[in-house]
Amino acid sequence: MSLFKCSHSISVSELLLLLSLVSGSCQASVLNGVVGEEVFLPCVTTEPVVKTTKVFWRDGNDTAVLNIEDSKDTFSSPKYSGRVSSFPEEYPKGNFSIVIRNLRLEDADTYDCDIPDQDFTLKVKLEVTGQLLYSYSKCCLNPELSANT
Ligand SMILES: *[C@@H]1O[C@H](CO)[C@@H](O)[C@H](O)[C@H]1NC(C)=O
Ligand SMILES: *[C@@H]1O[C@H](CO)[C@@H](O)[C@H](O)[C@H]1NC(C)=O
Repeated sequence: MSLFKCSHSISVSELLLLLSLVSGSCQASVLNGVVGEEVFLPCVTTEPVVKTTKVFWRDGNDTAVLNIEDSKDTFSSPKYSGRVSSFPEEYPKGNFSIVIRNLRLEDADTYDCDIPDQDFTLKVKLEVTGQLLYSYSKCCLNPELSANT
């Protein structure tokens, strides 16, 4: 038994990564957002979910994006507070996806959806782009360019 355990120490997230590499779909976990808009971060488990199932969304700094406990969203750290929602009616289906609103450039990060009871971790990479063209033309971030015109 112990030998079996030791030789199967690969984590669920590693397995998911391997599977996605094998199927060539590793791009699927990269999402694109735009500053000021909102983005949907998917997290769906196929394991049975009970009322007490806890889900912890974390950013790359291990900051709490959203905690889901006892079928309620219970906590977001100040960085995300008021900008994150989930879908309680979907929890029983194992759907713990979230939406982050009013995106900021610094939201570009890797997010983890952790379900410790199930040993389940899903990683989602978020890229955020701003209206750079707009700000460049309005401002003087590139003085050489404006001097030439
Ligand atoms: C992560 O933490 C470091 C150190 O506290 C900080 O400099 C950095 O801005 C943080 N990153 C994000 C995305 O919050
Ligand atoms: C999860 O819930 C969201 C919000 O209702 C929905 O848009 C999405 O399709 C659901 N995902 C799955 C796999 O059911």
